[in-house]
Amino acid sequence: MTLSRIEAFNLRKEFGSIVAVENISFTVETGEVLGFLGPNGAGKTTTMRMLTGYLRPTRGDVSICGINMLANPVKAKACIGYLPEGAPLYPEMTPATLLRFTGQARGLGGKELENRMDETADLVNLREVWNQSIETLSKGYKRRLGLAQAILHNPEVLILDEPTDGLDPNQKQEVRLLVRQMAQSKAIIISTHILEEVHAVCTRAVILASGRIVADGTPVELESMASDHNAVTILLPTTGASQFAEKLEKIPTVSAVKITPEGEDRCIVQAFPSRGSLILTQVTDLIREQNLNVLELRQEPGRLDEVFRNLTIPTTDPAYGGQA
Ligand SMILES: Nc1ncnc2c1ncn2[C@@H]1O[C@H](COP(=O)(O)OP(=O)(O)OP(=O)(O)O)[C@@H](O)[C@H]1O
Ligand SMILES: [Mg+2]
Repeated sequence: MTLSRIEAFNLRKEFGSIVAVENISFTVETGEVLGFLGPNGAGKTTTMRMLTGYLRPTRGDVSICGINMLANPVKAKACIGYLPEGAPLYPEMTPATLLRFTGQARGLGGKELENRMDETADLVNLREVWNQSIETLSKGYKRRLGLAQAILHNPEVLILDEPTDGLDPNQKQEVRLLVRQMAQSKAIIISTHILEEVHAVCTRAVILASGRIVADGTPVELESMASDHNAVTILLPTTGASQFAEKLEKIPTVSAVKITPEGEDRCIVQAFPSRGSLILTQVTDLIREQNLNVLELRQEPGRLDEVFRNLTIPTTDPAYGGQA
């Protein structure tokens, strides 16, 4: 039996009377990128700090590459690369001196350290600022340097707290690509507030709210929890649209139909399937039968932002009109 690269078991963290994390369990294997999603204060950073041995859990256990973090922290930490939130770095050093220092602290030296520093500098595009003092670096370069120190020793496990935060759009793309490439040989956890990143990077995601896991699944599984999952959206001229909508309503697997005007003489007709049904074929058959002039047609995958919102906003919150 192979041991999971990352294993969290019933983690709980209290800060005085605040319970920041409660009963969190999951595993991550090599080849997986697990996304941590959740509103501010949900417990993402606190969980990551416990996984990396930076914070001691009030209760529960962490094991990294089969090594228990609480019993054997030095050995467990050697398998981890960690990009902390905000990437604290020594301001008076330069990327070159900081990476040499962290490499040595990780037990690298000689030609191996030189090679790893060279490779890492290229992977995260640090050459331009290689000998510039860290305090004068822009936010994005500091973030990239944080990522560089996390991957320098080529660890089996990577824990990255908002790795694309503060990066420009091109760098965001580069870092997502890098994370995907590295995932082939590593187990990775990233936290993010960018929901598109889940599709772009993650093989699986957990949504945290008030310190607990409220959803855990692949991006597609999470999207399928949305109310418009597999709904069919049709853009067509207003003439004939209401007649078409009436016919759609008669399809047994269609649960609801909505018409929304779109500009002067067009409208959007949306047909929602009853739970678990696929209606695309019936809808296209009807369009053909009616010989309708359809301008656009698509089947909705489901909106992750809606799923996120429903799971993380209490339904009774008056600030949101009491709606999920
Ligand atoms: N050292 C601490 N002392 C007291 N409370 C803390 C401490 N660290 C975190 N908390 C609290 O724990 C909760 C979870 O915080 P955490 O930083 O883990 O959230 P997060 O999901 O990372 O949020 P964000 O998206 O803003 O980064 C918050 O209520 C926070 O105020
Ligand atoms: Mg955080």
